[in-house]
Amino acid sequence: MAIASYKGGVGKTTLASVIASIFSERFNRKVLIIDVDPQSNITEVFIPPREFEKLINISKSHGKVFSLEWIAGAGEPLIYSVTNNLSILPSKPEYIGLAKFLMVPLERIQGLRKDLENKMNMYDYIIFDLPPQMYGLIGPLIKVVDILVTPVTKTSFALSALYYLIRDIRGSPPHENPPFIGAILTRFRKNEAMAIEMYRRRIKRIVEEAYQSLAMKWEFSDILTPTFNSVFYAHPKLADIRALPMDKNDNVRMIRLVRGLLKYSPQILSFVEPLAKELEYRINIALSRK
Ligand SMILES: Nc1ncnc2c1ncn2[C@@H]1O[C@H](COP(=O)(O)OP(=O)(O)O)[C@@H](O)[C@H]1O
Ligand SMILES: [Mg+2]
Repeated sequence: MAIASYKGGVGKTTLASVIASIFSERFNRKVLIIDVDPQSNITEVFIPPREFEKLINISKSHGKVFSLEWIAGAGEPLIYSVTNNLSILPSKPEYIGLAKFLMVPLERIQGLRKDLENKMNMYDYIIFDLPPQMYGLIGPLIKVVDILVTPVTKTSFALSALYYLIRDIRGSPPHENPPFIGAILTRFRKNEAMAIEMYRRRIKRIVEEAYQSLAMKWEFSDILTPTFNSVFYAHPKLADIRALPMDKNDNVRMIRLVRGLLKYSPQILSFVEPLAKELEYRINIALSRK
């Protein structure tokens, strides 16, 4: 599954962190996160700085590689266990320099698909947290995943980004069917019901237009809406996923790693669990149709 949008700052990484945590810790699924963004935000959420330093050393001494090199086909992946159920193939800031030149050739994409299929024996979900740019990488990657979700915030730019994302799913094997299963409205407030309805209508139109331009139809239209029913509402505890883990009363601020354990604010969980359930439901529908 990839969490993608060509627009930055829409909440991809926050959503990926929360979903990965709920799937692994509450639904007891085995989850691998692959951090494809040179900004390395989700790596920073799940790997404490000192552990990260160790990984850099292990990578050098054992010849294993971080995410982008693995994608480019340059070695075996260095996978870090966060908990029993949750692992991550990290990114690193050095990739910022490499990223602009990275073009993944089609043969490697086929190879990547095979690598992922082998890994799927070990994981229930592999979640790619994608960067907003690096089109030479996102284009090929969204073609190897089975599932694509995209957050949409309250800006018309996020809607254009959705249009172009859907357009790019199409075009090369192995996918017969584009794996897009719905947009997730993100960072809306509970009292913005009108805006939410308006965005649902706009997304529906955009999805239809994008599919029409590909001479296809939105294949789940008889069961699923183009937008998730659950909204990833704005929540002050999610305002900075890399913020301090505890507030002054020692409450966990959000989902994150504290002293080697994954902890989460109960408030965050209760408000994102319906979304995580809906996501799993949609994934099952999409995969059973293959
Ligand atoms: N549901 C949410 N509620 C409040 N703030 C959010 C929420 N989702 C994301 N944010 C904030 O929005 C900003 C961008 O989110 P991020 O997940 O880093 O986006 P992206 O990965 O798409 O660039 C961050 O400061 C993040 O904390
Ligand atoms: Mg991000």
